[in-house]
Amino acid sequence: MTAVVIEVDHPLVRHKLGLLRDVTTTTHMFRHLVNELTLLLAYEATKTLAEEEVEIETPLEQMVAHRISGTKIAVCPILRAGVGMLDGILSLIPDARVGFIGLYRDEETLQPIEYYVKLPEGIAHHDVLLLDPMLATGNSTAAAIEKVKAAGSRSIRLIALLASPEGIVRVHGEHPDVVIVVAKIDRGLNEKGYIVPGLGDAGDRLYGTK
Ligand code: URA
Repeated sequence: MTAVVIEVDHPLVRHKLGLLRDVTTTTHMFRHLVNELTLLLAYEATKTLAEEEVEIETPLEQMVAHRISGTKIAVCPILRAGVGMLDGILSLIPDARVGFIGLYRDEETLQPIEYYVKLPEGIAHHDVLLLDPMLATGNSTAAAIEKVKAAGSRSIRLIALLASPEGIVRVHGEHPDVVIVVAKIDRGLNEKGYIVPGLGDAGDRLYGTK
């Protein structure tokens, strides 16, 4: 199986990402930019969703149109920073089901600790869009993917704002079937497991906690 990583190469994405990274960007603006970037990435991530044909009538005649079924899509943000990406996706797919995966990383071991998981019923029949703004070590993302797979989901697409090469290797080493859509693959990780040049702690910047 060929593991797929899509780095979205677009002037709007580059422009907004530059603003997002900037240390002088306010919390309010940061949230707004995360929302906008998520919309742009979602466009790419949803390109291969299954469609169905439906008969409709325009004011002029009958025709066959296409629909995706929102109720067959589950959007799963990884708490807490992934929640900052949720509104963007739901504005495009308002009928999507939502699941939450609560993981934090132990700052010493960098290993994920699970504290809350609530996935939609019947997730086995859903395509999952997993939201994790920072694919850093990949430890918590891989753990979240395991949770969703254990619940039986039929496909998983991961949407991230930034990724490290190490994080991609880690996730695809265990889960080559997961399509990764990312705004930018950065240089790497620092000694604390932060993506560099990165944007800092996405959760703190989204919620103004530091
Ligand atoms: N989580 C973040 O919020 N930022 C990083 O750089 C790495 C993990």
